[in-house]
Amino acid sequence: MKITVNLKERSYDINIEHGLRFRFTDLVKSAFPDTSFAIVTNTTIAELYKELINSWSSELDCPIHVVPDGEVYKTIETWNGILDFLLDSGLDRSSKVIALGGGVVGDMTGFAASTFLRGVGFIQVPTTLLAMVDSSVGGKTGVDHATGKNLIGAFHQPELVIIDTGFLDTLSDRDFLSGYAELFKYALIGGRDMFDFVYANHDAMVAKERDKLLEGIYRSVSIKARVVEQDEHETSGLRALLNFGHTFAHSIEKYFNFESVLHGEAVLWGIHCAYEMGKLTDTVSSGDCSLFEELLSRMPLPKLPQKVDPGKILGFMYKDKKVLSGKLRFVLPTDPGFSKVSTDISEKQVLATLERVFP
Ligand SMILES: NC(=O)c1ccc[n+]([C@@H]2O[C@H](COP(=O)([O-])OP(=O)(O)OC[C@H]3O[C@@H](n4cnc5c(N)ncnc54)[C@H](O)[C@@H]3O)[C@@H](O)[C@H]2O)c1
Repeated sequence: MKITVNLKERSYDINIEHGLRFRFTDLVKSAFPDTSFAIVTNTTIAELYKELINSWSSELDCPIHVVPDGEVYKTIETWNGILDFLLDSGLDRSSKVIALGGGVVGDMTGFAASTFLRGVGFIQVPTTLLAMVDSSVGGKTGVDHATGKNLIGAFHQPELVIIDTGFLDTLSDRDFLSGYAELFKYALIGGRDMFDFVYANHDAMVAKERDKLLEGIYRSVSIKARVVEQDEHETSGLRALLNFGHTFAHSIEKYFNFESVLHGEAVLWGIHCAYEMGKLTDTVSSGDCSLFEELLSRMPLPKLPQKVDPGKILGFMYKDKKVLSGKLRFVLPTDPGFSKVSTDISEKQVLATLERVFP
């Protein structure tokens, strides 16, 4: 399966298939002949896929850089280490950097590619479900800052995305469900057809049924690609829809110091918060509530390590970079498959929502 993201001179293909990793070097060599490459991955992937990475490295004659694993390492320091590696490897402006890993590796490597020699090309090879359905496409790259998530970064589109669902075989169930939260999100923003698809195939996808999962990934990526094409730099408001649940999620992650709660887990809580806010502010058509509630009830909320203080979450929200001139921006559900961006929610309503979800 192939999807093209049409962005004029920045257009690129996304290939989706089970087992594509075994054809990876042929694919990149034919897409980028006479090109030098470098691979960036993390300690976990380097260990799990040692043989595969070594074969890529020898077939492409390229060096490998291994970063530590975890969101806590999505920092300026790790980004700087990737730049040191690219400089030491003698890459030039026509070289391509291969990001092999989840969203953390992809975001950091993309940011390093965007800044190295004022920008070189990069290839996303996502190995988590989250990275497959979301972070590997769209060109948002960056690192976290002590003040908040993804506060330092750049828009830099990949030049190729290779999605091999075979990588999911080694992913932990917890990380799988965390990634599934982002796929689930598309049911709320991707149109009625996507809502109905997730409604009908949720159980099969959670059970990792290969064909349904491939279709869910394909549909999610297609929706993201079409949104990115129309609003690449998040200026028209359309791309903001992809942040469904994220205004809440980023603050929940910050509340737990980016340590004990995974991004997708926080997104899942955020999705529930957005739905509650939609009910509170009457954006959800009342006739559709039962449909939403049935779907949401089938996606159990992950346990949080400790009780959440709604007032503190609210405080973190105002520091998030998605605050527009002091106003919080939320994506709220309207009808099944459809949502809208709202910036006129009062602080009192935000707090009331948080108090409902975190009593
Ligand atoms: N750029 C974007 O548009 C965008 C969108 C959504 C999320 N994000 C970012 O993505 C990050 C989260 O991504 P994530 O959930 O992939 O986290 P992650 O990259 O930390 O991966 C999760 C864990 O799974 C391990 N792992 C990865 N692939 C594996 C595999 N095949 N087998 C076994 N283990 C594997 C990783 O080493 C890590 O321990 C966050 O930093 C978030 O901000 C970016």
